[in-house]
Amino acid sequence: MTNPSKKLGVIVGVDGSVSQVGMYSMSNDSQLLWYGDILTGPKIGAFLTINQNDVKIIATVSSEKVIDQQNTVRSVEFDNRFHKDSINRVITLKTKGVIEENKFQLTSQYVPMVGNEVTLTTKEELDLIFGLESGEYSIYVGKSLLEGQPINIPINKFFASHIGIFGNTGSGKSNTLHKLYLELFRSKYRSSILDCSQFFVIDFNGEYTGDKTFELDSRNKQIFEIDTRSAEAGQKMPIKKSYLFDPDILSILFDARPATQVPFLRNALRTFNNSITDEEKFAEIELGLLRSIIIGTRSVSGDALENWIKAAEAVGIIPDTLEGLKGNLTNIIYGNLEIRASDGQTLIVDQGQITLDGEVTLKLDELKSKLSLRYKEASPIYKLSYFLEFQKVYVSAWKSTNIEFINPLFHRIKSAFESLEKVVEIKEDLDDCFKPMNIISLVHANQEITRLMPMLLSKMIYDEQKLYVAGNEVNQTKHLIIDEAHNILNAEYRNNGDDWQDYRLSVFEEIIKEGRKFGFYLTLSSQRPADISPTIMSQLHNYLIHRLVNEKDLKMLENTMPTLDKNSYQMIPSLGQGEAIITGNAMQVPVFVKVEREETNRPKSDDIILTKLWTEN
Ligand SMILES: Nc1ncnc2c1ncn2[C@@H]1O[C@H](COP(=O)(O)OP(=O)(O)OP(=O)(O)O)[C@@H](O)[C@H]1O
Ligand SMILES: [Mg+2]
Repeated sequence: MTNPSKKLGVIVGVDGSVSQVGMYSMSNDSQLLWYGDILTGPKIGAFLTINQNDVKIIATVSSEKVIDQQNTVRSVEFDNRFHKDSINRVITLKTKGVIEENKFQLTSQYVPMVGNEVTLTTKEELDLIFGLESGEYSIYVGKSLLEGQPINIPINKFFASHIGIFGNTGSGKSNTLHKLYLELFRSKYRSSILDCSQFFVIDFNGEYTGDKTFELDSRNKQIFEIDTRSAEAGQKMPIKKSYLFDPDILSILFDARPATQVPFLRNALRTFNNSITDEEKFAEIELGLLRSIIIGTRSVSGDALENWIKAAEAVGIIPDTLEGLKGNLTNIIYGNLEIRASDGQTLIVDQGQITLDGEVTLKLDELKSKLSLRYKEASPIYKLSYFLEFQKVYVSAWKSTNIEFINPLFHRIKSAFESLEKVVEIKEDLDDCFKPMNIISLVHANQEITRLMPMLLSKMIYDEQKLYVAGNEVNQTKHLIIDEAHNILNAEYRNNGDDWQDYRLSVFEEIIKEGRKFGFYLTLSSQRPADISPTIMSQLHNYLIHRLVNEKDLKMLENTMPTLDKNSYQMIPSLGQGEAIITGNAMQVPVFVKVEREETNRPKSDDIILTKLWTEN
């Protein structure tokens, strides 16, 4: 038998979904003991039940006040104001939904009516409100703040959605993020999750790199320490060639200027990706360039040969192989149909053709095989770098491009390729490159790699997933988890041109708009929601909001979260550490929860206790 309800008051006024309750007594205890259950008193935010025949209308308290009787007789002697029996407490309720036939649902089908009695919401009723539809599997995250009820999140509606976790620094985002996925891996689906799904955590601060994070060991978890500082090879990030050698990505990496440098990169990559199939092709093309420069007519620019020699040196061709060129050609006057070697005798070019003697004197054969060998032995990144060196000579030799515009790009190419070489491994395909859980720590990466890597990886794994799923059933999913997402998703990025902005936002906007269809889900955590692109913010399905005080951040949430009501919204600045509001399409009503703290297995992000530190040392 269910317990009888404790009657608190009666509806005395209704205005839309807001109604006033006249309380029978002051009932101002914060908690009430009722048949063995501790229930929350009618304080702001608490649930109350309005009884209307068989239907229970569920509402929350949004304001309270007292009304005192008027001193109608205007007598001092009989003034009956301001004592226990003269004061009436009136509370305002906001209707949330209805319990009918043992099921809670959101509906405005029923409205309270004057005279309906109001009772405390019982434990059974709370279970229905916070509870899940029968047969729905869930994970436990903590207890509700006001009622102390266990809060479970339905696995399907929550994890098959884009999730946002927001809150000020130190409010508990990283712990919450870790806890959510930890509980998912603790669920009965663990082994199938590890079989069918992949998780990628972009970790800007190295918080998730511990051995035990997510309760996964090295069989199921791989930590990529992206380290551009140390020379010793850590675990490099596998990247498919086509993603790295892409004009958009490289333009961003090199911070290329749109007018001259971007077209240069585009053309160069087209040739590189289509024509340079092996080292023979490379040597052939670059030697062909040298020949054209040597026999070139007046139209060849004066420094072309010198530039070619510089490129060859940059590729690592040793000086004595280049001796023939330097000794015999650097002082000649261009445009002659006839060129003699430095001995004044040997004809190198005769009637616009390189002679057999010329071939020998200039050591062209040797040059070609050296070029071919250097190219063959280079890593994929240096192969491209070598090609670009000569491409610069090619575009400037006939003055179509001013080399002065391109040179600055090459300083950046050099440093970018040096960093990339340390952290990236070029792959033809991604089979077996990733484990179920992949943590990408960027704490030791320099700025350009920190900027590039999350985008490169996200684009790559999203495209792969899309390709795999297109036209088929989704039988594997990918979950991209970005802590401190404002690092890459902010609408404005300091010091950078538009290219990076557009490309990056277009990548993530596509993921957030289309990802769900392909089984690709995003979880974002950030302390500055106001900085994140509104397009991205407004397409999140579920939110965990920790304490936030900044006006701009709160405004952003108010504008983008359809499921958050005004009362809950007003509570956000006063939440404590680890306390959050969960709202979105996985929850029937916004719930306030104290996320349960994991005692041992947490991200490396604890508050530093200075006095402890200073005592120990
Ligand atoms: N659910 C919780 N219960 C109790 N304490 C918590 C809880 N979650 C986090 N904390 C504590 O709060 C502090 C900050 O937590 P956390 O690093 O998760 O915050 P954050 O929001 O990610 O901060 P930042 O924005 O700086 O990354 C830590 O000391 C942590 O132990
Ligand atoms: Mg954090």
